[in-house]
Amino acid sequence: MRLTRIAGTGHYVPERIVTNHDLAGMMDTSDEWIRERTGIVERRFASADQGSTAMGVEAARAAMAEAGWEPADVQFVIFATVSPDMYFPGDGVLLQKELGLGTTGALDVRNQCTGFLYGLSVADAYVRMGMYDRVLVVGAECQSSGLRLDDEGRDMAVLFGDGGGAACLEVTDGEDGSALIWHQLHSDGRFAEELCIRKPGAINRPWLTAEMIEDRSSAPFMNGREVFRNAVKRFPEVINEVLAEKGFTKDQVDMVIPHQANLRITEAVRKRLELPEEKVFSNIEKYGNTTAASIPIALSELVDSGTVERGHLLCLAAFGSGFTWAASLLRY
Ligand SMILES: CC(C)(COP(=O)(O)OP(=O)(O)OC[C@H]1O[C@@H](n2cnc3c(N)ncnc32)[C@H](O)[C@@H]1OP(=O)(O)O)[C@@H](O)C(=O)NCCC(=O)NCCS
Repeated sequence: MRLTRIAGTGHYVPERIVTNHDLAGMMDTSDEWIRERTGIVERRFASADQGSTAMGVEAARAAMAEAGWEPADVQFVIFATVSPDMYFPGDGVLLQKELGLGTTGALDVRNQCTGFLYGLSVADAYVRMGMYDRVLVVGAECQSSGLRLDDEGRDMAVLFGDGGGAACLEVTDGEDGSALIWHQLHSDGRFAEELCIRKPGAINRPWLTAEMIEDRSSAPFMNGREVFRNAVKRFPEVINEVLAEKGFTKDQVDMVIPHQANLRITEAVRKRLELPEEKVFSNIEKYGNTTAASIPIALSELVDSGTVERGHLLCLAAFGSGFTWAASLLRY
């Protein structure tokens, strides 16, 4: 039997810490407002010469070191990000070059906060079907360069941060019990414009104008209440779905690792699922929302701290722009 296991995880966050107080010096906001509504205390911002590829590369190197992989071991790369270094090509090929992976294939995933889980499901399918034995999956974001750090941009600016996470996935016969089990993937494009960057885009002629910067249509837009309302419904739904699909109950799960969108969302989900605090992970106070990077950063931290051990049943779950939502069940 061909199954997929996580052989190694890694993460990287930039050195620069930006506290809520720092943001309050740039825009009309306060530490109290941000903490109360989001649980965020600080986040990391990349240095001027760092993009999402560079952070993804650092995370990938850490994951490969943990897995004992050399560059020649990587047979395929999947890179999830909403903040690529270039409009095209994607970060996958840039990382591929940086890591010296020869002509290894590279796929970019544009699925926002669920990008890492969508990527994981693709990697799992490739490994199970025998196409590859070892796939590197990366989620990394440089959100800080796209945020408007002023009064008008404050609703989004206080939420997001930068960083990268990665996982090395390899084939297993499943005998030691360590394997990815199942994935549930959903989307509802009716909500596409509730959380988006509308412009620039190739639907416009020309696709980029100075006006787009001036009228702020190129800034991230979010209908916060709509996101909140859907997130607290979809997270529990998809977690229950992935468990039921393979006959598990929520009490068997050792750790739920949700996308770090907002502590209030995580808390609402935890309560709806009636799970104890120690079984639903949160590190949003340190990093804010790092979009596609948040789940692999969380997983890597949990492995590094010894909180997650081999044999633990993990449920990874995400919700975000699209709207898209997803869950992956795995035995670490
Ligand atoms: C964004 C969110 C925290 C806003 O909380 P909220 O209670 O809905 O707040 P509102 O948007 O109604 O804004 C309340 C007030 O705070 C103001 N405000 C918005 N951002 C602010 C900020 N950073 N600092 C201070 N005040 C702010 C608003 O202008 C509004 O003022 P008004 O009452 O004078 O109009 C909340 O909607 C949320 O968590 N949504 C989900 C966001 C998310 O997780 N996104 C990522 C998904 S992957």
